[in-house]
Amino acid sequence: MSYGETVKKVTERMHRFPLINIQGVPLRCYIANNWDSIWAFRPDPLDILIATYPKAGTTWVQEIVDLLRHNGDVEATRTAPTQERFPFLEIHYPPPIPSGLSRLEKMNPPRVIKTHLPIHLVPEGFWENKCKTIYVARNAKDNLVSYYHFDKMTLIQPEPGPWDSYIRKFMNGELAWGSWYHHVKAYWNEREKKNILYLFYEDMKENPRREVERIMHYLDLSLCDDVISRIVELTSFNSMKEDPMANYTLMPTAIFDQSISPFMRKGVVGDWTNYFSPAQNQLFDEDYKRQMKDVDIPFRTKI
Ligand code: A3P
Repeated sequence: MSYGETVKKVTERMHRFPLINIQGVPLRCYIANNWDSIWAFRPDPLDILIATYPKAGTTWVQEIVDLLRHNGDVEATRTAPTQERFPFLEIHYPPPIPSGLSRLEKMNPPRVIKTHLPIHLVPEGFWENKCKTIYVARNAKDNLVSYYHFDKMTLIQPEPGPWDSYIRKFMNGELAWGSWYHHVKAYWNEREKKNILYLFYEDMKENPRREVERIMHYLDLSLCDDVISRIVELTSFNSMKEDPMANYTLMPTAIFDQSISPFMRKGVVGDWTNYFSPAQNQLFDEDYKRQMKDVDIPFRTKI
């Protein structure tokens, strides 16, 4: 049986995986069951980490970083889909679908590694080796709406259930990868000590060029103006939506069923206004104030 056929056979047996708590963080069972090997991972000092709460703009920043590292050369970056170019540190599926760790083993540093892990679960080697780390945060309401659609189309994530109960699960930190509030706060609090570049999705939408340049400087790169403009264009929502190497259409449909909701869904700030009722909004805002009272992170729900 070819590798493609094997993957097809395995993914046909996939189902919505339950979550198991690791140090208070609900993770898909295949991740939780392999936790010791994930925690033991040692990165190379040249590896770059892209960390996000799910649906905050991971794929967007991955493309930007890849193009920056290849001087805007799409021939060099469009060689494989996102999930193959950027090993996803903690991801595990039923074998023989490769885990993030097995992809990492096969790649030479410097690798651009993706994680959704909250900071206390990121293997210590990233900090000991002073790996460059880019964190992207997105305002809670748009992040929640995006995650809701993602959970509908990702057939290995727990069933999202009705919208109203999904909001409560988000507020209670019960979704996969845990509490958005803890996630964004803990990276924020550590950003200076650990030299983390902390970006906001809303800033990237407002002025993508400025943010691409910030990433470029952080990576100690210096590209000419034309190349930067090209990267901004190539990483616009419309370009990435049409790019099979970035839009996850090459992911098996047993994992991502994009007929339910496309991975590149809307890519805007403020879509939450189409989903929150006034009562839900009030409840969410009150809870948000309580959960975020100890920090002042400049999130914006509109631009
Ligand atoms: P929406 O569901 O709101 O459209 P992640 O990559 O972390 O899973 O995040 C996915 C979210 O980022 C989706 O949000 C997706 O549309 C959006 N996104 C991906 N690429 C983008 C781009 N180039 N510009 C703006 N948004 C983008």
